[in-house]
Amino acid sequence: MDRMERAFARNRAWADGVRRADPEFFERLSEQQAPEYLWIGCSDSRVPANTLLDMPPGEVFVHRNIANVVSPSDLNFLSVLQFAVEVLQVRIIIVCGHYGCGGVRASLEERDHGLIDNWLNHIRLVSRLHRDRLEALPEEDRPNRLCELNVIEQAQNVARTTIVRNAWKRGQPLSIHGVVYNLHDGVLAELVSHSASGETCPMLEKDGPTD
Ligand code: CO
Repeated sequence: MDRMERAFARNRAWADGVRRADPEFFERLSEQQAPEYLWIGCSDSRVPANTLLDMPPGEVFVHRNIANVVSPSDLNFLSVLQFAVEVLQVRIIIVCGHYGCGGVRASLEERDHGLIDNWLNHIRLVSRLHRDRLEALPEEDRPNRLCELNVIEQAQNVARTTIVRNAWKRGQPLSIHGVVYNLHDGVLAELVSHSASGETCPMLEKDGPTD
């Protein structure tokens, strides 16, 4: 069986299995989607939103890119965010990074990675913002620490968008949670949360102020 045949066979077996467990599943879901979560994560194949949240189709609206970057000039991201917040009215936005992120690691290297270096500049900015914190660590601990700091900064970028600020002004219930995923045990841990009433970030409070 070639790769595409295998993909179609897996798809058919999956669809048959879902229908066996819940004969109305696809008909019901085809009428409308009403997810309560927006997931902003890394494109890494090991960090699939629905799988690790154990949620079926219909429950998570998803945006993924290399190293879970939230850039306020990224029209793709802004369109996803606006649709999720204003039309779908999601309650929770999860910004998920992961330890061992290749994009984050590459941003710390001097060598040329080609076009992607333009994208990784978003993470180099996070490194500059937290230079003292990172330089205080042994070199081998820096990539994973930067994965955490990147989540914290990108979650803050979401909170600062006009889309989210306007939702809070309208009194819409919405919170943003920055989390990190551990590839070694499959577990998510929260690093920061934002709501209309403010920000909670135990990790940076413990460290003292950023700048
Ligand atoms: Co990654």
